[in-house]
Amino acid sequence: MTTPAYDAAFWDQRYAGADGYVFGTAPNDFLAGAAAWIPARGRVLCLGEGEGRNAVFRARRGHDVLAVDQSAAGLGKATALAAQHGVTLATQVADLADYRLEPGAWDAVVCIFLHLPPALRSRVHRAAAAGLRPGGVVILESYGPTQLGRGTGGPQNPDLLPALATLRPDFAGLELLTARELERNVIEGSGHTGRAAVVQLLARRPSASRPTDST
Ligand SMILES: C[S@@+](CC[C@H](N)C(=O)[O-])C[C@H]1O[C@@H](n2cnc3c(N)ncnc32)[C@H](O)[C@@H]1O
Repeated sequence: MTTPAYDAAFWDQRYAGADGYVFGTAPNDFLAGAAAWIPARGRVLCLGEGEGRNAVFRARRGHDVLAVDQSAAGLGKATALAAQHGVTLATQVADLADYRLEPGAWDAVVCIFLHLPPALRSRVHRAAAAGLRPGGVVILESYGPTQLGRGTGGPQNPDLLPALATLRPDFAGLELLTARELERNVIEGSGHTGRAAVVQLLARRPSASRPTDST
């Protein structure tokens, strides 16, 4: 069997052809668990957001959310999910290879199961780190190298499955609050269906230090 391209056409077909939401409508577990680190108000950018479960989660908590994905079909479902919950999202159909991430503008950047080729992955991660406001966080979960062949989710291409060690340099200069590889049960819709090897990273841009009182 040939490995899919995992391009916009692949994801459009997968999302449009699905009965319901491929990865469910509940937020990703790691994001939900890390949510207390997201500043209470502000702007959240969800990259590779697909059908919008994570973006809607944050919009329902009062954040101003932009969801970016290459799949128009996915973001159409994201907009519909937001409407079901009485919230709105901004969406942008874009290949992240062409997307300019606004520096110093975001209170959180969310990358959940966004599996990119190595050079683009590093570029996007570095832009995500630079995109944070002081106190802002990057929240990332990805399948890891030993997920290959398990059959419970994730791309069947080792280049798209990073080890934690390859991710760390992308977030240099941020405070790493969580950085780990582990096995856990990932049960999310029909797309993620069981025991899985994942990488999790929660990193924060330090808040600007307060000027010292010279009196
Ligand atoms: C496994 S899905 C995860 C979707 C969503 N983050 C979630 O957790 O439900 C991966 C998503 O990344 C998007 N993606 C992958 N490569 C991309 C790229 N180069 N530009 C934009 N989106 C991309 C796909 O279109 C797809 O929606």
